[in-house]
Amino acid sequence: MAVNIQQLQQWKQKKRQIVVLTAWDYAIAQLVDAAGVDVILVGDSLAMVTLGYETTLPLTLDEMLHHARAVCRGVKRALVVCDLPFLTYQESPQQAMHSAGRALKEAGVQAVKLEGGHPAMAQTVAQLTAVGIPVMGHVGLTPQSVRLLGFRQQGKTEEAGERILQEAIALEQAGAFAIVLEHIPADLAARITQKLTIPTIGIGAGADCDGQVLVTADVLGLSEHQPPFAKSYVNLRQVIAEAVQTYSNEVKSRQFPTKD
Ligand code: KIV
Repeated sequence: MAVNIQQLQQWKQKKRQIVVLTAWDYAIAQLVDAAGVDVILVGDSLAMVTLGYETTLPLTLDEMLHHARAVCRGVKRALVVCDLPFLTYQESPQQAMHSAGRALKEAGVQAVKLEGGHPAMAQTVAQLTAVGIPVMGHVGLTPQSVRLLGFRQQGKTEEAGERILQEAIALEQAGAFAIVLEHIPADLAARITQKLTIPTIGIGAGADCDGQVLVTADVLGLSEHQPPFAKSYVNLRQVIAEAVQTYSNEVKSRQFPTKD
């Protein structure tokens, strides 16, 4: 049965960990979905891992929707959530409505993810959920603010931690169905997870969140650079390099193709 947002909330209550990974194309989406991952995020990290941009900032909504459509074609069970790219939702709730509407109508994703939890963003989340668009929040390290925050851990002081907690509460009250907590201290993530009734999905936020997300390119060892909290389960860069080298050698030495 396909995963829905109500099920995520039930899993939090039952303390059943929620498994989230990113995907950026049809093949990766098919594999990740068939492996039983609960939520597939078409993250704007695809700007860096797939399109070669230095940050997520240059990614356009059209580029994102192109990838989101391919992902949706490959998924049968997981809930598909799509990041709204930088400056496709921050200007006004109307801009957010237009971009999120395109993601649901044109790409077929089931929900969108927005970064930040300041009062204006909570208002935007409230307006989106009011018209039936499910929203996942994202607080802590928010990569779209890289020029302001860098890629540093957030919430390290008492005051900064309290601010992130209040942002998470505001997003829940605005109607978000889940919140990503990125690169914050584990004890802060545990406190937020306890306070909220909606699931928290951690990345670099310790073991006490309701679920975990990683960038699939990091998990597969495809990324050129990866954050210190990521884990690779295979080194596909090496596997691919060796396979291509072997193919190249076989073509040059006329071992491939064989007569038959
Ligand atoms: O873009 C992305 O992949 C993300 C995850 C790191 C949560 O937002």
